[in-house]
Amino acid sequence: MPVTVIDRSQHGSLLINKVRETASTLLTKCDLTDYNLTIVLTDDSEITSLNKRYRNQHKPTNVLSFPFSENIGLLDEGLSFKELGDIVISLDTARKEAFFNNQAVHYKLAMLMTHGLLHILGYDHEASDSEAERMSKEESRLLHELNLCRRQKMTSLAINVDHIATIRQARGIAEPDPVTAAAICELAGAQGIVVHLREDRRHMQDRDVRLLKETVKTKLNLEMGAAEEIVLFALEIKPDMVTLVPEKREELTTEGGLDVISQKSKLAKTIERMEHANIPVSLFIDPDIDQVKASLDIGATYVEIHTGSYADATSEDQQHKEFELIQSAAAEAHQIGLRVNAGHGLNYLNTGPIAAIGTIEELSIGHAIISRAVFSGLEQAVLDMRLIVKNSALL
Ligand code: PXP
Repeated sequence: MPVTVIDRSQHGSLLINKVRETASTLLTKCDLTDYNLTIVLTDDSEITSLNKRYRNQHKPTNVLSFPFSENIGLLDEGLSFKELGDIVISLDTARKEAFFNNQAVHYKLAMLMTHGLLHILGYDHEASDSEAERMSKEESRLLHELNLCRRQKMTSLAINVDHIATIRQARGIAEPDPVTAAAICELAGAQGIVVHLREDRRHMQDRDVRLLKETVKTKLNLEMGAAEEIVLFALEIKPDMVTLVPEKREELTTEGGLDVISQKSKLAKTIERMEHANIPVSLFIDPDIDQVKASLDIGATYVEIHTGSYADATSEDQQHKEFELIQSAAAEAHQIGLRVNAGHGLNYLNTGPIAAIGTIEELSIGHAIISRAVFSGLEQAVLDMRLIVKNSALL
């Protein structure tokens, strides 16, 4: 394998795969597919000691290149070995720089790999102004050829406050109030509030939804089954959008996505009624391309991709497979003109990669945030998740 990625920062296989893919493309664009390149992802502490040792600079830097041989700049004269050398990147610095420049982390890493590779190939921007210009031109050419898309818009975070109502209902009294919770979430940066009004009213009550309609400043997304009584309620309240979900009385939480294919005409009628009242509809579906296509067929505006199987995966391999299903379903939905949200089971450990999928607009997260709030307070729990979404959405 021409590109070896060593991750000393422990950032997980998704990032490593992206880095490997980009580095391999770079080698192809430079006609170096016969050569081996090693990318080391590390942190500020390690790169500081390398910077001190090899460049006598006592500070972290973003990238250092270590050519296998000083003669690599003469590649066109033919080399007897196949090693290009090592490019060491500090993910700490790369992330900070990406954040401040509002760049995707992956794009930043591609810039650093390109810069590092050109140094290995003998380019040196510090040698002279003309050399700096030559290197900069080659960097721009390669980055352009990598054709990496830059994210236009951040993924947003909508918070499901059902669990606050669950606690209230356990006592049958007036607190804690999900309406207050929604306001705190918004003040802490939530970009939407989600509530599920179940037929059995086990957590959210009609009164909650009515008040939320009056008080939510961002966007109220009403999750619901397609039962007539609830449809009529939604048509009366007019939330900013509704998300249709399958609902079973015996389930603890929404268990799977809607089978849109087998219920096309029933769902299409509900969508039509909502659209008549200017309420956009999202369909909560499993990451399945046929369900995506059926959702478009019956006039949905959004799909919400069920991330539960990804969240419940018990091995990295399985999680990766589930991730790829979500990524492909989101890409297909986006491509055919649907807007794409995702949610279910997302927490502080598994949200990052999902937030990094550029075609997903919004994540709907409830249980993990409310659970953390018990210990850290709701505002802090929202801020912590916002940071994860924001940082990952820059990937
Ligand atoms: N999206 C949908 C459609 C849901 O039914 C739920 C659970 O209420 C969520 C997102 C949020 O899931 P969680 O509470 O696991 O974050």
